[in-house]
Amino acid sequence: PPIKGEIRFENVSFSYEEEKPVLKDVTFTIKPGETIALVGETGAGKTTIISLLARFYDPQRGRILIDGHDIRNVTLKSLRKQMGIMLQDTFIFSGTVADNIRYAKPDATMDEVIKAAKTVNAHEFIMKMENGYDTEVNERGSRLSIGQRQLIAFARALLADPKILILDEATSAVDTQTEVLIQEAIEKLTKGRTSIIIAHRLSTIRNADRIFVIHNGQIVEEGNHQQLLEKRGFYYNLYTS
Ligand code: GTP
Ligand code: MG
Repeated sequence: PPIKGEIRFENVSFSYEEEKPVLKDVTFTIKPGETIALVGETGAGKTTIISLLARFYDPQRGRILIDGHDIRNVTLKSLRKQMGIMLQDTFIFSGTVADNIRYAKPDATMDEVIKAAKTVNAHEFIMKMENGYDTEVNERGSRLSIGQRQLIAFARALLADPKILILDEATSAVDTQTEVLIQEAIEKLTKGRTSIIIAHRLSTIRNADRIFVIHNGQIVEEGNHQQLLEKRGFYYNLYTS
């Protein structure tokens, strides 16, 4: 059955192995369709939050709910079907560009593949490759720039059409033009989906409905860009230093 895409963390605490707690009593609710940016210094716990949501790990305390249902009661298969997860290191396998886009929806037609690629600004560069969508790429994605690999991952995610979108934004710098293409693509991708973006680029952060500032495994501030700047706290220090 289709989900609405409400995400709730309820008093979630987590540590890797028996070590010090990495998330401490984290509680938040994300409304269906909302776009949330997670920001915070390295090691704060941002990736851990999305890893728990995808059930790569389960929390030792608290619960995580989607549309009010504890995700531990959902099969991994159906959970992952509801989620499009794009990690920092884009997954490219050897095959054609079209195969890579079709990955999450193998029966997609060429029309659907092209439509998805056009929507996320990937069509133009693909058409410049010697065999267009039939161009072979290898698993390291060589011959593709980092920005191009991201756009392919975006097309793949769009085609899968998940209700929940998770993006760990790449930190690597891309040229200004690609930056604009990526920004536009993210705006289209997040439309109508609940989105959590571990954001590094200020443009993504400013476009988010809400920003969660993570510090030492806790959400220490929450609000939009303007509200958080006015607090003159963690966020202010992150973005004005
Ligand atoms: P950046 O990606 O660097 O911005 O940090 P982050 O906010 O995503 O932090 P992350 O959630 O990856 O890590 C939070 C804490 O957990 C850090 O102290 C990490 O060293 C630790 N950690 C992350 N992954 C693992 C893991 O697989 N095993 C163990 N033992 N510790 C981990
Ligand atoms: Mg991280």
